[in-house]
Amino acid sequence: MTDRYAVIGNPIEQSKSPFIHTEFARACGQTIEYGRILGPTGGFAASVDAFRAAGGKGMNVTAPFKLDACAYCTDLSVDARLAGAVNAMKFEGDRVWGENFDGVGLVRDLQVNLASPLKHKRVLVLGAGGATRGAWLPLLRCLPAELVVANRSVDKALDLVEIARQHLPDLVQQCQVRATGYPELADQGYDVVLHATSAGLSGEGPPVPPAVFSPGALAYDLTYGKGLTPFLRLAQAAGVVRLADGVGMLAEQAAEAFAWWRGVRPDTASVIRQLTVPLQ
Ligand code: ATR
Repeated sequence: MTDRYAVIGNPIEQSKSPFIHTEFARACGQTIEYGRILGPTGGFAASVDAFRAAGGKGMNVTAPFKLDACAYCTDLSVDARLAGAVNAMKFEGDRVWGENFDGVGLVRDLQVNLASPLKHKRVLVLGAGGATRGAWLPLLRCLPAELVVANRSVDKALDLVEIARQHLPDLVQQCQVRATGYPELADQGYDVVLHATSAGLSGEGPPVPPAVFSPGALAYDLTYGKGLTPFLRLAQAAGVVRLADGVGMLAEQAAEAFAWWRGVRPDTASVIRQLTVPLQ
């Protein structure tokens, strides 16, 4: 029987995961079946139970079920636990392994695809919600000189600093990890500025002063497929020429899941090329 995988979410039609994993399987010469499942509100566990009973080997999880998936798993990776969100599951008998590959996907996109090593760089993350929680420790593991998180409610940003102190105390000794509000951000040139708030899709992004971008900075929006977002537009107006959205992060987190399930890591270049929406 062909090994079965699926992505579950609600809505689900927009998910690129079936396309990406089918491409990966073809490129790696593997035979898998990858579908999409519309999970009913309140019916996450029943849907996953049914998929497992039918022989499913693993699933990707998208909104609004990443928290439900966290509760469903019997075993969580550190990144999934700290993110409080699972985006990939693997089924082995009674065990359900939960992972969150968003952070490692982001880091790989930055360091490999975009050739922006983070070591000894000044990195600023805008937003302290779920997206940042997933990326936070993977970013710190790259050992930037500074890792700063700015958020409207500073308390949530301070929580992330505490998480870093608790889980990677040695790295916190070597990297300045700080939390801040937006008003205190003026006149500080960062090499990499990551936009991870949920604002901006509706129009108004966080108030980011132009001086946060160092000359030669990379401005990166974790959303994808939206072209030039308000944040990227703001960066461009500030003179930033290195702009990127999260299409590479999407492809890389999928490649991590594929490797976890199948034992072989696919090349992402073709998928990224096919999913890229020009930033204009
Ligand atoms: P996600 O999973 O997309 O990260 P989330 O966990 O609800 O969603 O987090 C949303 C993030 O966007 C938060 O950092 C939020 O800031 P607050 O914690 O201060 O609420 C941020 N955000 C949402 N709307 C915003 C706005 N208009 N301006 C600035 N930040 C905003």
